[in-house]
Amino acid sequence: MAILIDGKAVSLAERELIKEQVSKMAVKPGLAVILVGEDPASQVYVKNKKLGCAAVGIYSESYDLPAETTQEELLALIEKLNVKEDIHGILVQLPLPKHIDETAVINAIIPEKDVDAFHPVNVGKIMTGDYDFLPCTPAGVMCLLKHYNIDPAGKECVVVGRSNIVGKPQAMLLLHANGTVTICHSRTKDLKAKCLAADILVVAIGKADFITGDMVKEGAVVIDVGINRKADGKLTGDVDFASVEPKASYITPVPGGAGPMTITMLLKNTVKAAELKGE
Ligand code: GUN
Repeated sequence: MAILIDGKAVSLAERELIKEQVSKMAVKPGLAVILVGEDPASQVYVKNKKLGCAAVGIYSESYDLPAETTQEELLALIEKLNVKEDIHGILVQLPLPKHIDETAVINAIIPEKDVDAFHPVNVGKIMTGDYDFLPCTPAGVMCLLKHYNIDPAGKECVVVGRSNIVGKPQAMLLLHANGTVTICHSRTKDLKAKCLAADILVVAIGKADFITGDMVKEGAVVIDVGINRKADGKLTGDVDFASVEPKASYITPVPGGAGPMTITMLLKNTVKAAELKGE
């Protein structure tokens, strides 16, 4: 029987620390949250981001823009927020409508307010280890490992998925923590053998129940970053919990595992942005 990694509990504990930190600051940290269009999943994420801010005393402003918003209009808003004194962090919810160039938008946010850590300057800083902001989802995973005293040093760490948002930075953070890291993706040969070698397996591939018990070593730590909605409306991860749980030593459930940590890390980054500004 695996120990369940309780992301909700860790997230609440972290939020208490953030709240205390915010209460001591002379100027309230401020986050601008931009949503373009009406994607239902994005609407839920954005709502939770704003609620998260309120829960720890961070000021937030929201910009809910219609799907027809032009790239120029969005860039103009970012320009305005880049210089707005009471805003320390800017978050543009992804994905954006197809007519908007995501890279141009990410590049437009000044690195000092890039609380997602998606700007190339911040990505580069993550590469060297000299970073201000950590990308929220991978940082949440590292925070969970720390809370459960799971040290990646010297361990075989396998990351399944190579996205810019999760897989790539996750691999880098595990490397900084002295793990031996393998990144697997859709073109990896013999994925099963790679996964079976993992002491710590982080899965962010976006395919429901993709990792099954036969792909997991006895005693492995399994972190499921996936959020997929099944035909019956229920949420499921990228890991087939029923077959993997009996083999794992620790495992994150979905929901309630890695998910709750992401927004908490965003709040942490927003406080850090305000601190770096000297607030
Ligand atoms: N869409 C899915 N994950 C994220 C995230 O971490 N940040 C932003 N801005 N959009 C996302």
